[in-house]
Amino acid sequence: MVKNWVEYWNREEAMSGDFWQAQADFFVRRIRRELDFDSSGSLLDIGCGRGHVAAALAPLLRETHGADTSALGIEEARKVYADVPNLFFHHLDPAAYLEVDRLPVRGLNFIFCISVVQYYKNIGEVQKLIGNAKKIVAPGGVLLLADLLIDYKLCLDIAGVLLGGLESGTFFAKLAEVFSGKHNLYARIRSENPVLTLRRGELEAVCAAENTRLRFIRQNLTGNRFRAHALIELLPGT
Ligand SMILES: C[S@@+](CC[C@H](N)C(=O)[O-])C[C@H]1O[C@@H](n2cnc3c(N)ncnc32)[C@H](O)[C@@H]1O
Repeated sequence: MVKNWVEYWNREEAMSGDFWQAQADFFVRRIRRELDFDSSGSLLDIGCGRGHVAAALAPLLRETHGADTSALGIEEARKVYADVPNLFFHHLDPAAYLEVDRLPVRGLNFIFCISVVQYYKNIGEVQKLIGNAKKIVAPGGVLLLADLLIDYKLCLDIAGVLLGGLESGTFFAKLAEVFSGKHNLYARIRSENPVLTLRRGELEAVCAAENTRLRFIRQNLTGNRFRAHALIELLPGT
């Protein structure tokens, strides 16, 4: 019996299907318009799933890492991308998933966390993640919290998912997801473990408390125009 989000995402059905690759391709196209990736850079993708985003960016970077609480996702990513020499995957301890500073990564230029924060428990966890991310970045390093549910309205979000499917070319992959039956399980877990929605002001306050600089990326990065994307400049050692 699946009890929480970590268990849900550790199931084969949660990460299977074409949708995730299509979603990652869309995100990578968009984020390349916002951030400069070069061959001296390094990236950690937290909640990387099967590693599609990290793998797509690996050729542009010196070193690329993915981490996830899903042992299944990490196992699959390691298998599929075994021949990419600068791409590494790490299993995040589900009992300590905010302790990203325990990972064998340092001096990062980019930390991504895409469609993951909604599975955190509260804004305090977001603050802890920011604090720990500061310990593993290089000067000028940034943390991107993408696909946030900020000032959330369910009906707008559903419209965003459908419209975004058309815009991002993932519409049919999304439909296939809906009819796959996995949404029944998602809905049950969600009713027992509500997704984390944030207010803009509280994220701003947390970023200020952590001595970081926050700006929102306005373009649609994840296929849902009603989701928000926070780019947080981390000032290591502060
Ligand atoms: C919606 S999927 C997004 C996957 C990937 N980031 C993407 O955008 O394609 C959510 C991912 O977050 C992971 N996840 C859920 N809760 C997490 C947590 N507390 N810490 C780290 N990863 C988590 C899941 O295992 C899953 O791989």
